[in-house]
Amino acid sequence: MKKNKVVIVGTGMVGMSYAYSMLNQGTCEELVLIDINKDRAHGEAIDLNHGLSFAPRKMKIYAGDYSDCKDAYIICITAGAVQLEGEKRLDLLHKNTKIMKSIIDEIKKSGFNGIILIATNPVDIMTYVAWKLSGLEKSKVIGSGTTLDSARLRYTLSEKLDVNPKDINAYVMGEHGDSQFVAWSYALCGVQPIYQIASRKESKIKFDELSSIEDEVKNIAYKIIECKNSTYYGIGMALTRITKAILENENSILTVSSYLDGQYGHEDVYIAVPSIVNKDGVREVTHLALDTTEKAKLDKSIDIMKENINKLDL
Ligand code: LAC
Repeated sequence: MKKNKVVIVGTGMVGMSYAYSMLNQGTCEELVLIDINKDRAHGEAIDLNHGLSFAPRKMKIYAGDYSDCKDAYIICITAGAVQLEGEKRLDLLHKNTKIMKSIIDEIKKSGFNGIILIATNPVDIMTYVAWKLSGLEKSKVIGSGTTLDSARLRYTLSEKLDVNPKDINAYVMGEHGDSQFVAWSYALCGVQPIYQIASRKESKIKFDELSSIEDEVKNIAYKIIECKNSTYYGIGMALTRITKAILENENSILTVSSYLDGQYGHEDVYIAVPSIVNKDGVREVTHLALDTTEKAKLDKSIDIMKENINKLDL
């Protein structure tokens, strides 16, 4: 297995935003683009290679096929239908499960034994499908989860508090979708709990604003889709962040879609919870002592995931 070889399945806007972000951040040494439209994958590879002299490190970029998966370290699957205006991510369930099945079948044939990173929506369920069909260990199949949503939350809070987003530590948990929620009991601005800041009358953020911030973060993708048909830069950078944590063995905590094996009282489901990510995938699912409201939201989100998984013939 090549330590720094990444394969991207799907050269649509999400896949190519991820590829472009990886090139600009010098995240890996070899990048393979696979798409059902071979001409598009080839054209994207040529175009990216023309930026190499401006990139921070050399990178071998080419259009390939599933035979290139065998020695890859990570395969990121972005292929699938995207949300149309007014559509929910869960509306993509059946058509993207069909696409995921065909992709995983090809990956299995290649003899791949690395880490699969899923971005295709509904991502928590597509991650479960990929794990179930791939035969890989649970920890080696990861979804982008709410990594992007947590970044959206940090951005929103940083704007309101006028603090660098890197100093906001806050997690969106649950489904990457309408049942996601913010674990406010763990949200920090520097070392100050957001709850504590919001309870002071002179602060820039008010306690009764928190639920509207949660809704703003949850629904912002619909706004972006309304304005420009789809989202891709944010998720492309979130995928790059997760890839970096894996390839650099960071042991970083990210809200990726992780398999629950009893954590939070649930099992046999993928959901976004803060997890420690390193060279082996999800090393550990952290167990937050959520308050009763947060735990109820997590339980509801997991129930929705399981209801939808049960609709599938896996
Ligand atoms: C979004 C897509 C990635 O939230 O679901 O932008």
